[in-house]
Amino acid sequence: MTKEIKNKMIRLPDGSFMPKLGQGTWQMGEDDQKKEKEIAGLEYGIRLGLHLLDSAEMYADGKAEMIAGEAVKSFKRSDLYLVSKVYPQNACKAHIYSSLERSLKLLGTDYLDLYLLHWRGDADLSETVYLMEELKNKGKIRRWGVSNFDVADMEDLWKVPDGRNCCVNQILYNLGSRGIEFDLLQWQREKHVPFMAYSPVGQAGALVTQDGVSKEALMKDVNVLEVARRHGISVVQLLLAFVLRLEDMVAIPKAVSPAHIDENAAALDIVLTEEDIDQLSASFPAPTEKMPMEKY
Ligand SMILES: NC(=O)c1ccc[n+]([C@@H]2O[C@H](COP(=O)([O-])OP(=O)(O)OC[C@H]3O[C@@H](n4cnc5c(N)ncnc54)[C@H](OP(=O)(O)O)[C@@H]3O)[C@@H](O)[C@H]2O)c1
Repeated sequence: MTKEIKNKMIRLPDGSFMPKLGQGTWQMGEDDQKKEKEIAGLEYGIRLGLHLLDSAEMYADGKAEMIAGEAVKSFKRSDLYLVSKVYPQNACKAHIYSSLERSLKLLGTDYLDLYLLHWRGDADLSETVYLMEELKNKGKIRRWGVSNFDVADMEDLWKVPDGRNCCVNQILYNLGSRGIEFDLLQWQREKHVPFMAYSPVGQAGALVTQDGVSKEALMKDVNVLEVARRHGISVVQLLLAFVLRLEDMVAIPKAVSPAHIDENAAALDIVLTEEDIDQLSASFPAPTEKMPMEKY
């Protein structure tokens, strides 16, 4: 029997609570031979206490949602926190209903806890927000949010009717991608909108952003190695603890192997000191000027 960890919760603007540590599903469902292990990994994580699963209609064209749907089958729906995302081109009256229905079907549920606009693209924010509110009122989603929104996008969102009902912004954030610390972090704090960090462990160094920047250095840096050694933890655990240190930040690392999932769950209890953060910042400083938002 897996011993359940105590996950932490963060408060959303609508007064509800969301698990601080969840599980990503991107790249799942792409290879049929890995399917069983991916389902088993998510199930293992849920039994361990990682009840939030993050998916998207885009991931493997629905197959990641299908993997997540298989994994949640034997759990009580009310114990789970299911998140999915709609493509911007589908976040309109003509497509959002069928997009959501497909996601719900694949996930094997009749509502989502959180529905995100995957990125802004050409979405008409007034229309998207109107539809998100409608889906909420119909009970199809509990709440909605956005992803990959920078300050200018959030400001535009704040101007449309009900735009301020946005519950979360999911963005790329890890020790090697600290752009939000320049301005978006403060902007959202003032509005009490929390974050979800994607690629929180920089894909264990394999991350290459849309702009072609590799995050390989994260795994080899002398300061990272030294801080990890001082705490007796792995580099990936340190990277995750760095993200989790922010109280308004949820993290959704993707992991298939139970050993990785155990490590990640244990990162909830790692407390980094100011000295640790200073040392990490010596290698990976917070930005001192506006940076283009990093995306995957
Ligand atoms: N909103 C967006 O635009 C967006 C974009 C990208 C991702 N996402 C979401 O965010 C989730 C996480 O991001 P991500 O998948 O890009 O990257 P990530 O979580 O930073 O890294 C995933 C990779 O790290 C490995 N890993 C995980 N824990 C580990 C550990 N303890 N030790 C060693 N390696 C470990 C995994 O290996 P194994 O799988 O082999 O265990 C996998 O290869 C995605 O799955 C997706 O749900 C959202």
